[in-house]
Amino acid sequence: MAKLFINNESKKSTISPEIYGHFSEHLGRCIYEGLYVGENSDIPNVNGMRTDVVEALKEMKIPVLRWPGGCFADEYHWMDGIGPKESRKKMINTHWGGVVEDNSFGTHEFFELCRQLGCKTYINGNLGSGTVREMSEWVEYMTFKGVSPMADLRTKNGHEEPWKVDYFGVGNENWGCGGNMRPQHYADEYRRYQTYVRNYAGNEQINKICCGPNVDDYAWTRGVLETCFDHCDPRFHGMMDGLSLHYYTLPEVEDDWNKKGSATVFTEDIFYQTLKRGYFMEELINRHGAIMDEFDPEKKIGLIVDEWGIWTDVEPGTNPGFLYQQNTMRDALIAGMTLNIFNKHSDRVKMACIAQLINVLQSVMLTDGDKMIKTPTYYVFHMYRHHQGASLLSSELVGGGTVGTGKNELPKVFESVSEDADGVITITLTNNSLDAGEQVDIQLAADASAYQVSDAVYVSGSMNAHNTFEAPEVVSEQAFKAYEKTADGIRVDIPACSVVSIRLSK
Ligand code: AHR
Repeated sequence: MAKLFINNESKKSTISPEIYGHFSEHLGRCIYEGLYVGENSDIPNVNGMRTDVVEALKEMKIPVLRWPGGCFADEYHWMDGIGPKESRKKMINTHWGGVVEDNSFGTHEFFELCRQLGCKTYINGNLGSGTVREMSEWVEYMTFKGVSPMADLRTKNGHEEPWKVDYFGVGNENWGCGGNMRPQHYADEYRRYQTYVRNYAGNEQINKICCGPNVDDYAWTRGVLETCFDHCDPRFHGMMDGLSLHYYTLPEVEDDWNKKGSATVFTEDIFYQTLKRGYFMEELINRHGAIMDEFDPEKKIGLIVDEWGIWTDVEPGTNPGFLYQQNTMRDALIAGMTLNIFNKHSDRVKMACIAQLINVLQSVMLTDGDKMIKTPTYYVFHMYRHHQGASLLSSELVGGGTVGTGKNELPKVFESVSEDADGVITITLTNNSLDAGEQVDIQLAADASAYQVSDAVYVSGSMNAHNTFEAPEVVSEQAFKAYEKTADGIRVDIPACSVVSIRLSK
Protein backbone atom coordinates (compact mmCIF):
# COMPACT_ATOMS: atom_id res chain seq x y z
CA MET A 1 0.00 0.00 0.00
CA ALA A 2 1.22 3.51 -0.81
CA LYS A 3 0.62 6.56 1.34
CA LEU A 4 -0.02 9.99 -0.09
CA PHE A 5 0.53 12.82 2.39
CA ILE A 6 -1.11 16.08 1.39
CA ASN A 7 -0.35 19.24 3.28
CA ASN A 8 -3.46 21.22 2.50
CA GLU A 9 -2.14 24.07 4.60
CA SER A 10 0.86 24.52 2.30
CA LYS A 11 0.01 26.14 -1.02
CA LYS A 12 2.88 26.31 -3.46
CA SER A 13 2.96 27.79 -6.97
CA THR A 14 -0.09 28.56 -9.08
CA ILE A 15 -0.59 26.00 -11.84
CA SER A 16 -0.69 28.14 -14.95
CA PRO A 17 -3.71 27.11 -17.05
CA GLU A 18 -1.41 27.24 -20.09
CA ILE A 19 0.35 24.06 -18.88
CA TYR A 20 -2.69 22.36 -20.45
CA GLY A 21 -2.04 24.03 -23.83
CA HIS A 22 -2.05 22.60 -27.34
CA PHE A 23 -0.17 22.97 -30.61
CA SER A 24 -1.59 23.13 -34.14
CA GLU A 25 0.60 23.15 -37.23
CA HIS A 26 -0.03 23.21 -40.95
CA LEU A 27 0.86 19.55 -41.00
CA GLY A 28 -1.13 16.63 -42.35
CA ARG A 29 -4.79 16.87 -41.35
CA CYS A 30 -4.38 19.04 -38.26
CA ILE A 31 -5.53 22.42 -39.60
CA TYR A 32 -7.32 21.32 -42.78
CA GLU A 33 -9.96 18.65 -42.07
CA GLY A 34 -9.18 18.53 -38.35
CA LEU A 35 -10.00 22.09 -37.34
CA TYR A 36 -10.99 23.90 -40.49
CA VAL A 37 -13.29 22.55 -43.18
CA GLY A 38 -14.34 25.85 -44.76
CA GLU A 39 -17.71 27.59 -44.73
CA ASN A 40 -19.06 25.55 -47.66
CA SER A 41 -18.38 22.13 -46.15
CA ASP A 42 -21.19 19.65 -45.46
CA ILE A 43 -19.55 19.04 -42.10
CA PRO A 44 -21.28 21.28 -39.55
CA ASN A 45 -19.14 24.35 -38.98
CA VAL A 46 -19.19 27.93 -37.81
CA ASN A 47 -17.21 30.21 -40.10
CA GLY A 48 -15.38 27.13 -41.37
CA MET A 49 -14.42 25.68 -37.95
CA ARG A 50 -15.74 22.17 -37.20
CA THR A 51 -18.49 22.42 -34.61
CA ASP A 52 -17.90 18.94 -33.13
CA VAL A 53 -14.20 19.64 -32.60
CA VAL A 54 -14.72 23.14 -31.18
CA GLU A 55 -17.36 21.87 -28.73
CA ALA A 56 -15.16 19.01 -27.52
CA LEU A 57 -12.17 21.34 -27.04
CA LYS A 58 -14.29 23.75 -25.02
CA GLU A 59 -15.45 20.88 -22.80
CA MET A 60 -11.79 19.99 -22.30
CA LYS A 61 -11.15 23.64 -21.38
CA ILE A 62 -8.38 24.29 -23.89
CA PRO A 63 -6.48 27.27 -22.43
CA VAL A 64 -4.10 28.27 -25.25
CA LEU A 65 -3.35 27.28 -28.84
CA ARG A 66 0.02 27.59 -30.59
CA TRP A 67 0.09 28.17 -34.38
CA PRO A 68 1.22 27.97 -37.28
CA GLY A 69 4.15 25.65 -36.44
CA GLY A 70 6.57 24.01 -35.76
CA CYS A 71 8.99 23.77 -38.63
CA PHE A 72 6.26 25.27 -40.80
CA ALA A 73 6.49 28.55 -38.83
CA ASP A 74 9.98 29.36 -40.08
CA GLU A 75 8.83 29.02 -43.67
CA TYR A 76 5.52 30.76 -43.20
CA HIS A 77 5.01 34.18 -44.72
CA TRP A 78 1.93 35.55 -43.03
CA MET A 79 0.95 37.92 -45.83
CA ASP A 80 0.26 34.87 -48.03
CA GLY A 81 -2.59 34.01 -45.64
CA ILE A 82 -4.63 37.23 -45.60
CA GLY A 83 -7.05 38.89 -48.01
CA PRO A 84 -9.57 37.27 -50.36
CA LYS A 85 -9.13 33.50 -50.24
CA GLU A 86 -9.24 33.05 -54.01
CA SER A 87 -6.20 35.28 -54.44
CA ARG A 88 -4.12 33.85 -51.61
CA LYS A 89 -0.86 32.29 -52.73
CA LYS A 90 -0.65 28.55 -53.10
CA MET A 91 2.58 26.88 -52.05
CA ILE A 92 4.06 23.46 -51.45
CA ASN A 93 4.33 22.42 -47.83
CA THR A 94 7.89 21.18 -48.23
CA HIS A 95 8.27 19.99 -44.66
CA TRP A 96 5.10 17.99 -44.38
CA GLY A 97 4.08 15.70 -47.18
CA GLY A 98 4.77 18.01 -50.15
CA VAL A 99 1.08 18.86 -50.46
CA VAL A 100 -0.40 22.12 -51.71
CA GLU A 101 -1.00 24.68 -48.98
CA ASP A 102 -3.62 27.09 -50.24
CA ASN A 103 -3.34 29.46 -47.28
CA SER A 104 -7.09 29.45 -46.76
CA PHE A 105 -6.44 29.22 -43.03
CA GLY A 106 -4.42 32.29 -42.04
CA THR A 107 -4.26 34.97 -39.38
CA HIS A 108 -7.96 35.92 -39.42
CA GLU A 109 -9.03 32.29 -39.31
CA PHE A 110 -6.69 31.51 -36.40
CA PHE A 111 -8.11 34.32 -34.30
CA GLU A 112 -11.64 33.30 -35.24
CA LEU A 113 -10.88 29.75 -34.06
CA CYS A 114 -9.46 31.00 -30.75
CA ARG A 115 -12.50 33.26 -30.32
CA GLN A 116 -14.78 30.26 -30.71
CA LEU A 117 -12.63 28.21 -28.33
CA GLY A 118 -12.33 31.03 -25.80
CA CYS A 119 -8.61 30.33 -25.47
CA LYS A 120 -5.42 32.39 -25.41
CA THR A 121 -3.35 32.86 -28.55
CA TYR A 122 0.24 31.79 -29.12
CA ILE A 123 1.64 32.85 -32.50
CA ASN A 124 4.99 31.48 -33.64
CA GLY A 125 6.93 33.93 -35.83
CA ASN A 126 9.36 33.25 -38.63
CA LEU A 127 12.96 34.03 -37.73
CA GLY A 128 14.59 31.32 -39.85
CA SER A 129 13.58 32.55 -43.31
CA GLY A 130 11.63 35.73 -42.59
CA THR A 131 12.81 39.28 -42.12
CA VAL A 132 12.68 41.50 -39.07
CA ARG A 133 10.31 43.75 -40.99
CA GLU A 134 7.98 40.86 -41.79
CA MET A 135 7.79 39.84 -38.14
CA SER A 136 7.36 43.41 -36.98
CA GLU A 137 4.58 44.04 -39.49
CA TRP A 138 2.76 40.89 -38.48
CA VAL A 139 2.67 42.08 -34.87
CA GLU A 140 1.50 45.50 -36.07
CA TYR A 141 -1.19 43.87 -38.24
CA MET A 142 -2.49 41.79 -35.36
CA THR A 143 -2.30 44.23 -32.48
CA PHE A 144 -2.07 47.89 -33.50
CA LYS A 145 -5.15 49.99 -32.88
CA GLY A 146 -5.06 53.30 -34.74
CA VAL A 147 -3.81 54.56 -38.06
CA SER A 148 -0.92 52.58 -39.53
CA PRO A 149 -0.26 50.73 -42.78
CA MET A 150 -0.83 47.32 -41.20
CA ALA A 151 -3.83 48.33 -39.09
CA ASP A 152 -5.38 49.82 -42.24
CA LEU A 153 -4.71 46.61 -44.14
CA ARG A 154 -6.34 44.58 -41.38
CA THR A 155 -9.39 46.85 -41.54
CA LYS A 156 -9.49 46.50 -45.32
CA ASN A 157 -9.48 42.72 -44.84
CA GLY A 158 -12.55 42.94 -42.66
CA HIS A 159 -11.28 43.23 -39.10
CA GLU A 160 -11.07 46.73 -37.74
CA GLU A 161 -10.46 45.76 -34.13
CA PRO A 162 -7.00 44.46 -33.26
CA TRP A 163 -6.63 41.03 -31.71
CA LYS A 164 -4.82 40.03 -28.56
CA VAL A 165 -1.59 38.09 -28.98
CA ASP A 166 -0.87 36.51 -25.63
CA TYR A 167 2.37 34.76 -26.59
CA PHE A 168 4.73 35.26 -29.51
CA GLY A 169 7.48 32.75 -30.35
CA VAL A 170 10.51 34.35 -31.97
CA GLY A 171 11.43 31.42 -34.20
CA ASN A 172 11.03 27.67 -33.71
CA GLU A 173 13.72 25.02 -33.34
CA ASN A 174 16.33 27.43 -34.66
CA TRP A 175 18.97 24.83 -33.74
CA GLY A 176 17.38 22.65 -36.47
CA CYS A 177 14.62 23.25 -39.00
CA GLY A 178 14.51 26.94 -38.04
CA GLY A 179 17.91 27.76 -39.53
CA ASN A 180 20.47 25.32 -38.08
CA MET A 181 21.95 28.06 -35.93
CA ARG A 182 24.44 27.93 -33.12
CA PRO A 183 23.19 29.23 -29.75
CA GLN A 184 25.08 32.52 -29.69
CA HIS A 185 24.11 33.31 -33.27
CA TYR A 186 20.44 32.56 -32.61
CA ALA A 187 20.56 34.56 -29.39
CA ASP A 188 21.92 37.60 -31.23
CA GLU A 189 19.20 37.21 -33.83
CA TYR A 190 16.65 36.82 -31.05
CA ARG A 191 17.81 40.08 -29.47
CA ARG A 192 17.30 41.88 -32.77
CA TYR A 193 13.98 40.35 -33.83
CA GLN A 194 12.31 40.60 -30.44
CA THR A 195 13.09 44.34 -30.33
CA TYR A 196 10.46 44.81 -33.02
CA VAL A 197 7.85 42.58 -31.43
CA ARG A 198 6.32 45.72 -30.03
CA ASN A 199 3.93 46.16 -27.18
CA TYR A 200 1.86 49.02 -28.50
CA ALA A 201 0.52 51.59 -26.07
CA GLY A 202 -2.70 50.52 -24.43
CA ASN A 203 -2.21 46.87 -25.32
CA GLU A 204 -1.70 44.08 -22.88
CA GLN A 205 1.79 42.66 -22.90
CA ILE A 206 2.80 40.17 -25.56
CA ASN A 207 4.84 37.47 -23.83
CA LYS A 208 7.92 36.76 -25.92
CA ILE A 209 9.16 33.19 -26.17
CA CYS A 210 12.80 32.56 -27.02
CA CYS A 211 13.75 29.32 -28.77
CA GLY A 212 15.17 27.00 -26.16
CA PRO A 213 16.84 23.61 -26.32
CA ASN A 214 16.21 20.38 -28.05
CA VAL A 215 15.90 17.69 -25.37
CA ASP A 216 19.09 17.66 -23.26
CA ASP A 217 21.12 20.28 -25.11
CA TYR A 218 22.15 22.11 -21.95
CA ALA A 219 24.82 24.06 -23.87
CA TRP A 220 22.05 25.67 -25.93
CA THR A 221 20.18 26.78 -22.81
CA ARG A 222 23.32 28.29 -21.27
CA GLY A 223 24.56 29.82 -24.54
CA VAL A 224 21.25 31.50 -25.28
CA LEU A 225 20.72 32.79 -21.75
CA GLU A 226 24.28 34.14 -21.56
CA THR A 227 23.67 36.15 -24.71
CA CYS A 228 20.18 37.43 -24.24
CA PHE A 229 18.85 37.05 -20.75
CA ASP A 230 18.21 40.40 -19.11
CA HIS A 231 20.12 42.53 -21.62
CA CYS A 232 17.13 44.72 -21.94
CA ASP A 233 16.16 48.29 -22.16
CA PRO A 234 14.33 48.92 -18.88
CA ARG A 235 11.74 51.00 -20.73
CA PHE A 236 10.40 47.71 -22.08
CA HIS A 237 9.17 44.94 -19.86
CA GLY A 238 12.07 42.68 -20.76
CA MET A 239 13.64 40.78 -23.53
CA MET A 240 12.25 37.37 -22.79
CA ASP A 241 9.25 35.95 -20.96
CA GLY A 242 9.79 32.30 -21.71
CA LEU A 243 12.34 29.83 -23.00
CA SER A 244 11.00 26.86 -24.93
CA LEU A 245 11.91 23.18 -24.55
CA HIS A 246 11.03 20.45 -27.04
CA TYR A 247 11.02 16.83 -26.00
CA TYR A 248 9.26 13.95 -27.74
CA THR A 249 8.97 10.45 -26.30
CA LEU A 250 10.18 8.03 -28.99
CA PRO A 251 9.17 4.51 -27.91
CA GLU A 252 11.70 2.41 -29.78
CA VAL A 253 14.30 4.67 -31.42
CA GLU A 254 17.84 3.55 -30.68
CA ASP A 255 20.05 4.74 -33.53
CA ASP A 256 17.57 4.96 -36.36
CA TRP A 257 15.08 7.84 -36.03
CA ASN A 258 12.86 6.11 -38.61
CA LYS A 259 12.19 3.17 -36.29
CA LYS A 260 10.03 4.76 -33.65
CA GLY A 261 7.68 1.81 -33.23
CA SER A 262 3.98 1.26 -33.76
CA ALA A 263 1.40 3.34 -31.89
CA THR A 264 -0.75 0.30 -31.12
CA VAL A 265 1.37 -2.87 -31.42
CA PHE A 266 4.12 -3.12 -28.82
CA THR A 267 5.43 -5.42 -26.11
CA GLU A 268 5.28 -4.94 -22.35
CA ASP A 269 9.01 -4.13 -22.39
CA ILE A 270 8.42 -1.40 -24.94
CA PHE A 271 5.51 -0.12 -22.85
CA TYR A 272 7.77 0.38 -19.83
CA GLN A 273 10.58 1.72 -21.99
CA THR A 274 8.18 4.33 -23.40
CA LEU A 275 7.03 5.37 -19.94
CA LYS A 276 10.61 5.60 -18.73
CA ARG A 277 11.47 7.77 -21.70
CA GLY A 278 8.48 9.96 -20.93
CA TYR A 279 9.65 10.25 -17.31
CA PHE A 280 12.88 11.80 -18.65
CA MET A 281 10.87 15.04 -18.77
CA GLU A 282 11.42 15.44 -15.04
CA GLU A 283 15.21 15.35 -15.42
CA LEU A 284 15.05 17.79 -18.33
CA ILE A 285 13.01 20.27 -16.28
CA ASN A 286 15.36 19.92 -13.32
CA ARG A 287 18.54 20.35 -15.33
CA HIS A 288 17.42 23.11 -17.71
CA GLY A 289 15.66 24.68 -14.72
CA ALA A 290 18.93 24.68 -12.73
CA ILE A 291 20.66 26.62 -15.54
CA MET A 292 17.73 29.03 -15.71
CA ASP A 293 17.96 29.49 -11.92
CA GLU A 294 21.55 30.74 -12.31
CA PHE A 295 20.34 33.61 -14.50
CA ASP A 296 16.85 34.02 -13.13
CA PRO A 297 16.65 32.89 -9.50
CA GLU A 298 13.33 34.65 -9.04
CA LYS A 299 11.83 32.53 -11.82
CA LYS A 300 10.53 35.47 -13.81
CA ILE A 301 10.79 33.64 -17.12
CA GLY A 302 8.90 30.47 -17.76
CA LEU A 303 10.10 27.18 -19.15
CA ILE A 304 7.69 26.70 -22.04
CA VAL A 305 7.47 23.04 -23.09
CA ASP A 306 5.70 23.91 -26.31
CA GLU A 307 6.21 20.54 -28.00
CA TRP A 308 5.92 17.26 -26.11
CA GLY A 309 4.22 13.88 -26.39
CA ILE A 310 4.68 10.44 -27.96
CA TRP A 311 5.96 10.25 -31.53
CA THR A 312 5.47 6.82 -33.15
CA ASP A 313 5.47 5.47 -36.69
CA VAL A 314 2.51 6.66 -38.75
CA GLU A 315 -0.56 4.45 -39.09
CA PRO A 316 0.05 1.89 -41.87
CA GLY A 317 -1.02 3.13 -45.29
CA THR A 318 -1.04 6.83 -44.37
CA ASN A 319 1.20 9.57 -45.79
CA PRO A 320 4.50 9.43 -43.83
CA GLY A 321 4.69 13.23 -44.00
CA PHE A 322 1.34 13.62 -42.20
CA LEU A 323 2.43 12.08 -38.86
CA TYR A 324 -0.97 10.52 -38.24
CA GLN A 325 -0.82 8.09 -35.33
CA GLN A 326 -3.28 6.24 -33.10
CA ASN A 327 -3.45 6.82 -29.36
CA THR A 328 -3.71 4.17 -26.64
CA MET A 329 -3.79 3.82 -22.86
CA ARG A 330 0.02 4.08 -23.09
CA ASP A 331 -0.48 7.63 -24.39
CA ALA A 332 -2.94 8.33 -21.57
CA LEU A 333 -0.35 7.30 -18.99
CA ILE A 334 2.35 9.43 -20.63
CA ALA A 335 -0.05 12.38 -20.60
CA GLY A 336 -1.16 11.82 -17.00
CA MET A 337 2.37 11.33 -15.71
CA THR A 338 3.79 14.30 -17.62
CA LEU A 339 1.00 16.66 -16.56
CA ASN A 340 1.60 15.62 -12.93
CA ILE A 341 5.28 16.43 -13.43
CA PHE A 342 4.45 19.83 -14.95
CA ASN A 343 2.09 20.64 -12.07
CA LYS A 344 4.80 19.84 -9.55
CA HIS A 345 7.21 22.13 -11.41
CA SER A 346 4.70 24.91 -11.95
CA ASP A 347 7.01 27.41 -10.29
CA ARG A 348 9.12 27.20 -13.48
CA VAL A 349 6.96 25.52 -16.15
CA LYS A 350 4.50 28.21 -17.21
CA MET A 351 3.16 26.75 -20.42
CA ALA A 352 3.24 23.44 -22.29
CA CYS A 353 1.68 22.50 -25.62
CA ILE A 354 1.19 18.83 -26.41
CA ALA A 355 1.92 17.96 -30.03
CA GLN A 356 -0.42 18.10 -31.73
CA LEU A 357 -4.07 18.98 -31.28
CA ILE A 358 -5.77 16.74 -33.82
CA ASN A 359 -4.82 14.04 -36.36
CA VAL A 360 -1.07 14.52 -35.75
CA LEU A 361 1.21 12.77 -33.20
CA GLN A 362 -0.29 12.51 -29.66
CA SER A 363 -3.64 14.07 -30.46
CA VAL A 364 -6.68 14.52 -28.27
CA MET A 365 -8.98 13.85 -31.23
CA LEU A 366 -8.96 12.06 -34.57
CA THR A 367 -11.24 12.70 -37.54
CA ASP A 368 -12.33 10.77 -40.59
CA GLY A 369 -14.59 12.82 -42.84
CA ASP A 370 -17.49 13.93 -40.71
CA LYS A 371 -16.62 11.48 -37.91
CA MET A 372 -14.65 12.52 -34.86
CA ILE A 373 -13.38 10.42 -31.96
CA LYS A 374 -11.79 11.39 -28.67
CA THR A 375 -8.56 9.63 -27.78
CA PRO A 376 -7.48 8.35 -24.33
CA THR A 377 -5.28 11.47 -24.11
CA TYR A 378 -8.39 13.64 -24.50
CA TYR A 379 -9.90 12.16 -21.35
CA VAL A 380 -6.74 12.82 -19.35
CA PHE A 381 -6.81 16.51 -20.31
CA HIS A 382 -10.50 16.58 -19.47
CA MET A 383 -10.00 14.95 -16.06
CA TYR A 384 -7.05 17.21 -15.22
CA ARG A 385 -8.75 20.48 -16.25
CA HIS A 386 -9.55 21.33 -12.62
CA HIS A 387 -5.84 21.90 -11.97
CA GLN A 388 -5.86 24.90 -14.33
CA GLY A 389 -5.23 28.05 -12.31
CA ALA A 390 -5.34 26.16 -8.97
CA SER A 391 -2.65 26.27 -6.28
CA LEU A 392 -0.29 23.34 -6.16
CA LEU A 393 -0.44 21.69 -2.73
CA SER A 394 2.56 20.13 -1.09
CA SER A 395 2.28 16.34 -1.46
CA GLU A 396 4.48 13.32 -1.03
CA LEU A 397 3.84 9.76 -2.13
CA VAL A 398 5.71 6.99 -0.29
CA GLY A 399 5.75 3.24 -0.69
CA GLY A 400 4.41 3.07 -4.22
CA GLY A 401 7.36 1.05 -5.47
CA THR A 402 8.48 0.84 -9.03
CA VAL A 403 7.58 -0.85 -12.31
CA GLY A 404 9.72 -1.95 -15.25
CA THR A 405 13.16 -3.42 -14.87
CA GLY A 406 16.76 -2.37 -15.40
CA LYS A 407 17.06 0.79 -17.45
CA ASN A 408 13.28 0.91 -17.75
CA GLU A 409 12.50 1.04 -14.03
CA LEU A 410 10.40 4.03 -12.94
CA PRO A 411 7.97 4.89 -10.13
CA LYS A 412 4.69 3.01 -10.26
CA VAL A 413 2.46 5.88 -9.16
CA PHE A 414 2.71 9.56 -10.10
CA GLU A 415 0.55 12.18 -8.42
CA SER A 416 -0.08 15.86 -8.11
CA VAL A 417 -2.54 17.76 -5.94
CA SER A 418 -4.02 21.23 -6.17
CA GLU A 419 -6.63 23.38 -4.48
CA ASP A 420 -8.82 25.71 -6.50
CA ALA A 421 -10.27 29.10 -5.57
CA ASP A 422 -13.36 27.43 -4.06
CA GLY A 423 -11.25 25.25 -1.80
CA VAL A 424 -11.86 22.07 -3.81
CA ILE A 425 -8.87 19.72 -3.80
CA THR A 426 -8.05 17.80 -7.00
CA ILE A 427 -5.83 14.71 -6.76
CA THR A 428 -4.64 13.11 -10.00
CA LEU A 429 -2.85 9.76 -10.02
CA THR A 430 -1.41 7.43 -12.64
CA ASN A 431 -0.77 3.76 -12.04
CA ASN A 432 1.96 2.74 -14.47
CA SER A 433 1.76 -0.97 -13.70
CA LEU A 434 0.34 -3.29 -16.33
CA ASP A 435 -0.77 -5.96 -13.90
CA ALA A 436 -1.02 -4.66 -10.33
CA GLY A 437 -3.51 -2.25 -8.83
CA GLU A 438 -2.39 -0.03 -5.96
CA GLN A 439 -4.10 0.93 -2.76
CA VAL A 440 -3.27 4.52 -1.86
CA ASP A 441 -3.98 5.81 1.62
CA ILE A 442 -4.47 9.55 1.13
CA GLN A 443 -3.96 11.58 4.30
CA LEU A 444 -4.80 15.26 4.62
CA ALA A 445 -2.83 17.33 7.12
CA ALA A 446 -5.78 19.48 8.14
CA ASP A 447 -9.53 19.22 8.48
CA ALA A 448 -9.73 15.76 6.89
CA SER A 449 -13.14 14.89 8.30
CA ALA A 450 -14.71 17.96 6.66
CA TYR A 451 -14.01 16.76 3.11
CA GLN A 452 -16.26 14.59 0.93
CA VAL A 453 -15.55 13.11 -2.49
CA SER A 454 -17.42 15.41 -4.87
CA ASP A 455 -16.22 13.90 -8.14
CA ALA A 456 -14.15 10.85 -9.04
CA VAL A 457 -13.41 9.61 -12.56
CA TYR A 458 -10.84 7.46 -14.31
CA VAL A 459 -9.68 5.91 -17.56
CA SER A 460 -8.26 2.43 -17.71
CA GLY A 461 -7.72 -0.47 -20.10
CA SER A 462 -5.09 -2.73 -21.58
CA MET A 463 -1.86 -1.00 -22.59
CA ASN A 464 -2.83 -0.74 -26.24
CA ALA A 465 -6.57 -0.15 -25.80
CA HIS A 466 -7.67 2.61 -28.15
CA ASN A 467 -10.70 4.13 -29.81
CA THR A 468 -11.50 3.70 -33.48
CA PHE A 469 -14.19 5.09 -35.76
CA GLU A 470 -15.89 1.68 -35.56
CA ALA A 471 -15.50 1.38 -31.76
CA PRO A 472 -15.21 4.96 -30.49
CA GLU A 473 -15.58 4.33 -26.76
CA VAL A 474 -13.28 1.47 -25.90
CA VAL A 475 -11.47 3.92 -23.62
CA SER A 476 -13.52 6.70 -22.05
CA GLU A 477 -13.90 8.54 -18.78
CA GLN A 478 -15.81 6.47 -16.23
CA ALA A 479 -17.10 7.06 -12.70
CA PHE A 480 -14.54 5.92 -10.12
CA LYS A 481 -16.04 4.16 -7.11
CA ALA A 482 -13.16 2.32 -5.48
CA TYR A 483 -12.68 4.64 -2.52
CA GLU A 484 -13.69 4.86 1.13
CA LYS A 485 -13.45 7.60 3.73
CA THR A 486 -10.91 7.15 6.50
CA ALA A 487 -10.32 9.11 9.71
CA ASP A 488 -7.61 11.23 8.11
CA GLY A 489 -8.62 11.26 4.48
CA ILE A 490 -9.62 8.68 1.92
CA ARG A 491 -8.35 5.31 0.72
CA VAL A 492 -8.45 4.53 -2.99
CA ASP A 493 -7.80 1.38 -5.02
CA ILE A 494 -6.45 2.45 -8.36
CA PRO A 495 -6.54 -0.22 -11.07
CA ALA A 496 -3.53 -1.28 -13.13
CA CYS A 497 -2.83 0.89 -16.19
CA SER A 498 -5.10 3.75 -15.17
CA VAL A 499 -5.33 7.49 -14.70
CA VAL A 500 -7.58 8.67 -11.86
CA SER A 501 -8.91 12.07 -10.75
CA ILE A 502 -10.53 12.56 -7.34
CA ARG A 503 -12.00 15.82 -6.08
CA LEU A 504 -12.55 16.57 -2.41
CA SER A 505 -14.92 19.34 -1.30
CA LYS A 506 -16.06 20.60 2.08
O1 AHR B 1 5.51 18.46 -34.27
C1 AHR B 1 6.19 18.09 -35.42
C2 AHR B 1 7.50 18.83 -35.58
O2 AHR B 1 8.37 18.46 -34.54
C3 AHR B 1 7.46 20.33 -35.47
O3 AHR B 1 7.13 20.93 -36.67
C4 AHR B 1 8.87 20.68 -35.09
O4 AHR B 1 8.95 21.87 -34.36
C5 AHR B 1 9.34 19.45 -34.34
O5 AHR B 1 10.55 19.01 -34.79
